Amino acid sequence: MLPTLNDLSDHISNLFLQKSAKEATCPIWLAWSEKGEVSFPPEIGAKQRTWLKAIDFKGAPGSWAPMPGEDGLAGAAIGSDDRQGPATHPLFAGGLPGLLPKGDYHLAWDIEDGDLAAIAWALGQYGFQRYQANGTPPAKRLRLPDGARLDTVVNIASAVWLGRDLVNTPANDLGPAELAETVQGVAAHFDAQCRVIEGYDLVAENFPLIHAVGRASARAPRLIDLRWGEESAPKVTLVGKGICFDTGGLNIKPGMAMSLMKKDMGGAASALSLAAMIMGAGLPVRLRLLIPAAENAISGNAFRPGDVLRSRAGLNVEVGDTDAEGRLVLADALALADEEAPEYLISVATLTGAARVALGPDLPPVYSTDTELAGALAEAGGRIGDPMWPMPLWKPYDQLLDSRVGDINSIVPEPFAGSIMAALFLNRFVKAAESYTHLDIYGWVPRPQPGKGIGGEPQCARAVFDHLRGKFRQA
Ligand code: BES
Ligand code: MN
Ligand code: ZN
Repeated sequence: MLPTLNDLSDHISNLFLQKSAKEATCPIWLAWSEKGEVSFPPEIGAKQRTWLKAIDFKGAPGSWAPMPGEDGLAGAAIGSDDRQGPATHPLFAGGLPGLLPKGDYHLAWDIEDGDLAAIAWALGQYGFQRYQANGTPPAKRLRLPDGARLDTVVNIASAVWLGRDLVNTPANDLGPAELAETVQGVAAHFDAQCRVIEGYDLVAENFPLIHAVGRASARAPRLIDLRWGEESAPKVTLVGKGICFDTGGLNIKPGMAMSLMKKDMGGAASALSLAAMIMGAGLPVRLRLLIPAAENAISGNAFRPGDVLRSRAGLNVEVGDTDAEGRLVLADALALADEEAPEYLISVATLTGAARVALGPDLPPVYSTDTELAGALAEAGGRIGDPMWPMPLWKPYDQLLDSRVGDINSIVPEPFAGSIMAALFLNRFVKAAESYTHLDIYGWVPRPQPGKGIGGEPQCARAVFDHLRGKFRQA
C-alpha cells in the first residue's frame, strides 16, 4: 500500500520545529570561496575560524564542517558556490539534510523565500523504502525560517512525496486499479468526487482510444475522473498520462528503452500531485482531474500499427506505431475535458523521448495556446526549482499529421520535432478550452540534485501550482 496523504503530512510536519519552539537548534552557516580564500560570515568567531583552518576546511560546494561545542554540535559550516549560495540553486537547502548528522538545525543566513527553503528541506529527506527492511533514516529537523508557513510547506511537500511514491512504485504493485485507488484516496481526503470508468464500460461511454490501448492487458484500463470545488468557479482541468507500464505494444521497445517504463504514469503522478496542492490550499477554482490509466501490453487482442480507431472527438486516428500510445489515451481524455470549455486545460505526460533529446531530462517543454501563460509558468519554475521551457505549437507542422486513410495520423514518418508533433496531435482534440497547455515531462531524476534524489519526480506540479496560486489567491 502507498502511504496516504495523512501519513505523508504527519511525517513531513515532524521535520520542522515552530519558529518559537524552545528546543535548541544548531546553526547552519555558509562558507564560500573568494579568490581561492575561504570566507565566513561574521557570526563565526575567531576560535571557530581557527578550528576551520586547522581542519583545512575550504568551503567547497557540497562539503561541510562540524563546529564542536561544549555539549555537541555548535554549528555546521556549509560550503557554498559563493556568498549568494542559496540563490545559486532554488532548492539549495534540500542538499543539507543529506549532508548533516541527525539533529535539529536552523538556517543562519538571510532567507528570501522561507516557504521554499523549508519545502527544499523536506524534499531533500524523501526516501523510497517500501521494499527495504531498514526503515526510514532519522529525521533532520529544521526550525521554520522567517516567512515559512508550516501548512503551506506540508501541503506542497506531501503532494510531491505522493507523486514520487507513485512513480517509484513498480508496475507489479501499481496498475490501473491501484492508480485509481490512490486517486480515490486523495479524493476522500479532500471531500472530492471521484468516478472511475473501467474496462468495457469505456467503449460503452465512448472512450474508444483508452480502451484500445489498454485492452491487451489482464489489468483493465480506466478513466479516473475527480471533481472538486464550486461548480461556478473558474474551471481548471488537469489531464495526466497514466500508462502504468509501456512495453511499446506490438511495436515493442528494446530492453534498454523499456527498463524504466514503470514511470510512464509520471504525468498522472504530476497531475495528482498538483491537484492535491490545489485542494490542500483551497484555491477558489472548480478542479477536475482526468487520468486515463492503462497498461500498454502485448497479447492477441492488442491494437496494431495501421489500425484506424474512431476517437471520442469523432476523429478517425490512424495508428502509426503502438508505442505512441500516450497521445491516444490523452486524446479521449482531452476531448472529454474540452466538452465543458475549461479556462485552464493542462495535460502532463511522459509523452516523447524526443523531448529529452531536445531539452534533456530536467527541463520539460511547455506548450501553450497562451504564450504568456507558458512564459509565466517557465518563470515560476525557474524561481522555485521546478523548471520548464516554452516550445512552440508550430502551426506549419500541423498538416504533417493529416492521414491518407483516416482524419489524423498518430505519428509522422520523419523523425523530426517529435515532441512538437505529439503536442500538435493533442491540440487537435481541444477546441473549446480557453487555454490549452501541455507539459512533456520525463518524470524522473537521473542524477541527484539538491532536494531531488534519483527516482520519480512529479515535474511541473510545484511550478504550475505556484502560478495558479498567484492567479487565484483570494484577496
Ligand atoms: N512513454 C514513451 C515516451 C518516453 C520514452 C518518455 C522515454 C520518456 C522516456 C512514449 O509512449 C513513447 O514510446 N513515445 C515514442 C513515440 C514514437 C513512437 C513516435 C518515442 O518517443 O519514441
Ligand atoms: Mn510508448
Ligand atoms: Zn508511453
